Amino acid sequence: MPEDGDGEGGSGGSDASPRAPVPGVPPESVDSSPLVPRESGRTIGVAFVRFTPRTPHDPRVVVWNKRSPSGAAAFRQLRQQLIAGDDPHTILCTSANPGEGKTTLAANLALAYAEIGRARVLLIEGSLRAAALSEVFGFKPPIGFGAQLVRHRSLPDEPWVVVQVGTQPLFVMAAEPHRCPQCAAPLPEDARFCGRCGTTVGHVAADTLDAAGFVAAARRLRETFDYLVIDAPPVLARGGVHEVKDVADAVVLAALKGHSRRRDLRRTVEQLSPKTIAAVALLDE
Ligand SMILES: Nc1ncnc2c1ncn2[C@@H]1O[C@H](COP(=O)(O)OP(=O)(O)O)[C@@H](O)[C@H]1O
Ligand SMILES: [Mg+2]
Repeated sequence: MPEDGDGEGGSGGSDASPRAPVPGVPPESVDSSPLVPRESGRTIGVAFVRFTPRTPHDPRVVVWNKRSPSGAAAFRQLRQQLIAGDDPHTILCTSANPGEGKTTLAANLALAYAEIGRARVLLIEGSLRAAALSEVFGFKPPIGFGAQLVRHRSLPDEPWVVVQVGTQPLFVMAAEPHRCPQCAAPLPEDARFCGRCGTTVGHVAADTLDAAGFVAAARRLRETFDYLVIDAPPVLARGGVHEVKDVADAVVLAALKGHSRRRDLRRTVEQLSPKTIAAVALLDE
């Protein structure tokens, strides 16, 4: 819950203000506490640091945005629809193309699950080349997911480090966002130049996800968290959703009103087959 104390993470009416300056603030508590896996009883599990979100919130966090109560209600309704169906516990959020609302969907759906209160929810960055979760919530990851995947290859029993956002049981496994080497502004996927200062950044190679490492990590993390929500890569662009989709119990597809094309959605459904799509979330720009 954000510091302004609103029951649902309200933004104190300042959500239209300019975005908080990047690169975000480190989580305030660096004393990590272990989260012991519920089922296995192993003592090596997950460590977390706490972070209290500050206003202004990123406009994509609809559940915290008082100006769109219907949008927040729609994410809670989607959560209820999933629970009432097969109640998937690992949910992959994807879309046909970049920029169609995967991060918005994943962040708000994870918040909606965390509102239940008794379920531990982990929101995971599933696309290192389009890392966005630390920017969305405004923290600096103590150690990025990409670095943790590399570390776990040689040290598989090291605890995973996640960030608890607010006081609800929402935990985030965020990768280090790609930033402009000149002004540190976060860069969208495939950026050729920085939108803030104009620096050419096209030569900076984006990290690719270690798919096998990701799948193993997701399985391990599922032992500790009740729900995993994955902010996955898009289906029709390069980026590897096909290598990670099998870890999911359900796929939810984001589509942007007035932007996503029917033909692309059809191709997306075909390419995800035989995985079926549990729901489509139609988002407003
Ligand atoms: N920092 C931001 N502030 C405001 N709107 C944004 C920001 N980043 C993305 N958006 C807009 O929100 C919509 C969904 O973005 P996002 O959820 O990040 O998509 P994806 O994760 O699929 O790339 C897009 O229309 C995008 O232009
Ligand atoms: Mg995204």
